[in-house]
Order: sequence, then C-alpha cells, then structure tokens
Amino acid sequence: MRKILLLVIATAAAVSGVDEWWHSAVIYQIYPRSFKDSNGDGIGDINGITSKLPYLKDIGVDAIWLSPIFLSPMFDFGYDITDYKKIAPEYGTMEDFNKLMAEAKKLGLRVVLDYVINHTSNDSEWFIKSTQRDPNYADYYIWAHGKPDPKNPDYLGPPNNWVSVFRKSAWEYNVQRGQYYLHQFAVGQPDLNFRNAKVVEEMKDVLRFWLEKGVSGIRIDAVNHLYEVDPANHDGHYPDEPLSGAPGATPEDYNYLNHIYTKDQNETYNIVYDLKVILDQYTEKQNDSKIMLTEAYADLPKIMRYYGDKNRNGSVPFNFFYMTELTNKSNARDIKMAIDKWMTHMPAGKVANWVNGNHDQSRLASKFGVDRVDVMNMLALILPGITITYQGEEIGMTDGHISWKDTKDPQACNTEDPVNYYKSSRDPARTPFHWDATANAGFSTGSSTWLPVADNYQTVNVAVEKAAAKSHFKFYKEVVAVKRLPAVRSGDLEVRALCENVIAVARYLPGHPVVVGVINLFDAEIPVDLNSIHLLPRDLQVEASGAYCKLEKGDKVQKGKVTMSPHCALVLSSTQNCCAAPK
Ligand code: GLC
Repeated sequence: MRKILLLVIATAAAVSGVDEWWHSAVIYQIYPRSFKDSNGDGIGDINGITSKLPYLKDIGVDAIWLSPIFLSPMFDFGYDITDYKKIAPEYGTMEDFNKLMAEAKKLGLRVVLDYVINHTSNDSEWFIKSTQRDPNYADYYIWAHGKPDPKNPDYLGPPNNWVSVFRKSAWEYNVQRGQYYLHQFAVGQPDLNFRNAKVVEEMKDVLRFWLEKGVSGIRIDAVNHLYEVDPANHDGHYPDEPLSGAPGATPEDYNYLNHIYTKDQNETYNIVYDLKVILDQYTEKQNDSKIMLTEAYADLPKIMRYYGDKNRNGSVPFNFFYMTELTNKSNARDIKMAIDKWMTHMPAGKVANWVNGNHDQSRLASKFGVDRVDVMNMLALILPGITITYQGEEIGMTDGHISWKDTKDPQACNTEDPVNYYKSSRDPARTPFHWDATANAGFSTGSSTWLPVADNYQTVNVAVEKAAAKSHFKFYKEVVAVKRLPAVRSGDLEVRALCENVIAVARYLPGHPVVVGVINLFDAEIPVDLNSIHLLPRDLQVEASGAYCKLEKGDKVQKGKVTMSPHCALVLSSTQNCCAAPK
C-alpha cells in the first residue's frame, strides 16, 4: 500500500487546493455580437445575453466572460474602444448592463469583462487630443518621426520596419500631428504608451470603474504587446526588428519579423502584477475573489511568468498550447504531452486552465473534428483548474462559411485577396449562435444577421440537442456536473496514454470516489483494460457518456474491461472511495 501511495505521489502532478470560486470554474466566453439579438437588428446585444442567463445557469457555468461591449466604431468589433466607460449603443445601454449584472447575481453567475488596454480606437478623445498635441495627451500614444526614403528624400516613410499583426506597416501617418503613430493591430487601433504614468493611471481608473459595478474579474487583451522597446536605450529611435527567416513570408506579413522590440518586454509582467493588486483590493472590499486572465501568444517560459512569483500575485495566463499544438490527428501520447507540458511548467500552487477555442481561432468542432467534440470538452472539464468554453463548443458548433463579400474581420480584409482571405479570417468562428432550428437559428428575428448563420444550424442547435437522447450538449452538461465532485475539484491528476488511441485521465482525492475519464480516439470499438491504474478500485459506474458511447450513464463496469465505442468519451467513477489497497 505504501509503495502504491508513493507511486501516485511521484506520477501525479501536484494540484493546488480550491480556495476561491475560480480555482475550479467553468468560464463561458460570450462574443456579444453573435450570442443573442433581442431587438431584431441582426446584432447580438446585452439584453439578449441577459435573456439567456438561465440557459448558462442550467448547463452549470460559473462565470461569463464578455468580449468587449464598450463604445467602439467596431473596426475590430469592439477591440477598438472609443470610451471605456460607455456601452456600445448597438449592444445596449449602461442600464441594460446593470440589469445583466443584477440578473447574473440572482442566478449566482459571475461576470468577467474584456480589458483592452494595449490600444484605443482612433475615435477616442484621448487620441484626437494627442494628434492635436494637447499637453495632457501628447504622450498618450507611440509617436515617431518618419524616416527619409533613400530613393525619394522628400518623402518621409515609416520610422522603421515594424509590421502589424494584421499585416503591413505598423505605422500610420497622421497629418495633423505630422508624425507616425504605432498600431500593432488595425490602423484604427493606435497603441497606448505604457511608459507614460498617466496612461497607466487612466487604465487603473477604468478597472476600478467596472470593479465598482461588481464584475468578478478581467481578461487582459493582447497583454504581451503592451510595451515596446524603450527608445531612450536606442539613441531616441525605435530600432528595426530582425528578420525571422520564416519561409514564404513577405515584408508585409507579421511573421516576416522576429518581434523582439514589440512583444514580451520585461516591463509587461510588472504592470500585470500591479493591476492584480487592484483586483486583490476589491477581492477584500467586496468579499468576492477577482480573477485576472491574460491573453498572450508566446513561448512557455514567458507565459508562466504571468502567474507571478513568491513576491507578487499574477494572473492566470490562458493555456493556448492545448489549442495550438493539438490537431485532429493528435494521438493519445500527443494529448498527454500537451497536458503534461502545462502541468509541469506551471509554478507550484497555481491554477491551470484549458482553452479549446475563442473568437480568434477555428472552432473546436472544425479544428479537432466533430468526432472529437466530446473528447476535447471532457478533457477541458475534468483536468484540474479552469475550463474556458467558447460559446457553441457545448453543442459542437462548426465554423461557418463566409464569402469574401460577407467578410468583416479586418485581419481578413487586410489581405485584399478574394481567394486566400479565408486563411486569415476569424469570421467563421464568430457566426451567430444556434439556439434552435427556426429562422436565423433563433439568434435574431431580423431579416438578416451581421454575419450569416452557419449552414448546419438545423441539426446542430441547443433545442435539437436538448431533445435528443444523446448529444454533445447532454454530455457537456453531465461532465460539468462531474467537475463538481471533490476528486475533480481538487484531487491529484494522473494522465495515461494506454495505447496510441486510448487515453485515461484519473483524478484522486483520499476519502472520495476516483473519477476517471476514458477516451477512444479510434474509429473502431476498443476493449480497454484499466488495471494498470492501480489505485482505481475495481467497480466503476458511468457518470457521463459521450454522444458516441454505447455505455449509458449509470451503467456498471469493471476496470478490467471497459468497452469503448468508436470516438467515445466516457467518465467513470469508482463505487469505492480512494485510496484503499486494491483487491
Ligand atoms: C486580441 C483579441 C482579438 C483582437 C486583438 C486586438 O488578440 O482577442 O480579437 O483583434 O486582440 O485587440
């Protein structure tokens, strides 16, 4: 027995205790424009979200994270903010927001907001004043003089070779000011200057404004773009970035350069820790723990720094590796390695998270295949920590097809390529949510919707999946319920790739039933022997059964033979508590 216990301690990743609501939460991302339209204009809105809160409560989510709802010209659909304290009229009013907060509170749902601080919209009063060199705002943005073009000395070209994430020069000339401004994203998204203490204060003030309204946290957008290199260390200039050597990249492509001066600057981490101090103050003040999520696409050591260290509290950095490193071809070992990668690099005592998709990436069902919807949802829910669900993942929504004519995403429009635009487009993942099989998938009563509804809405929607005997939706809901079991909330983790196509994820907590998720990635039935998971008691019962499984919820099985149907994802729990010596 002693030997066995030691074995588990050695192989199981350490998992932190669950002290706060978000340590083992389901956070559901809502893209407001596409969730539910309440007034028939074809655009989702706040009242639409409020009307669907009971749906979210019913599936068991803990919190909703709203993509931006603030005043914006919508060049980047709300990620270009004109005024951080105003609501976009097409989404509603501040009164509507207050109502949403009140309803959410009644239902016990928390609200997390997007906090887009790398840039404002170029419609922002701050930016307009900055172009006018108003002394209070002159240094709010990154301004630089143009560089004479060697071939045409009368023409002042961009200050350096920096490229925008959305392609082409990251600099735009402003006639009024007679200088270029930096925009790491769209032309309409001028980068704020975080080396100006006043900008930092403005943003802290915005944070307090929304915390006062009772929100339970923020998701910091594009956090690793906040700082650029300090020109003071480069003779007052912003230096060129080195070429990346990426095959096929042209000078207008973002991946043409190695972004050593515009991303992941050291100062970024301190600002994250400083903002966390404010969240922690409100945690105390409102007796409600505030979560900070950070969005950064960067390498693992850099990502882990966002967690903070012994001296400073940090954020929960999104785990995008699960999404960027796994594909529909990944086998059991690949999946185990992706899980282990996060768990082994995460600092001790921190909270893991699992992201299957978001409004910038292809949807789970399209990326991993419809066959793997249950697999990926189950993993995200039974692994330790936070599950992030992007709207529609629970019903297995796929990407919509968006023609060049209907394309709205600036990243796709910037390609100016009616043939290949779709490779850069984020529109397919943003099509309206499928509520039912009626017109516009029950999303809107309008005559058209801002992006067309995906073709398969009549078969893939909430109403149909609720009515079906088995569905992705039903399984998702069952596994959310399993996430509340003590072993899944705070137990240890053991992940086994039992063969190329079978993976088992066991969660143990002494004194409680063991929970084990089993997956068959193959398209044929496999009899699975779980005997090598020594601490798993012999007698098991099915807690949640995926859409493709023959075994049903409540069925009893023994660990030596669990018959896994093709593409089945199954959650079992032991009838005996952990961790008695196995018979
Ligand atoms: C983030 C958002 C993305 C947006 C970009 C610029 O990556 O997720 O949608 O376009 O930041 O704000």
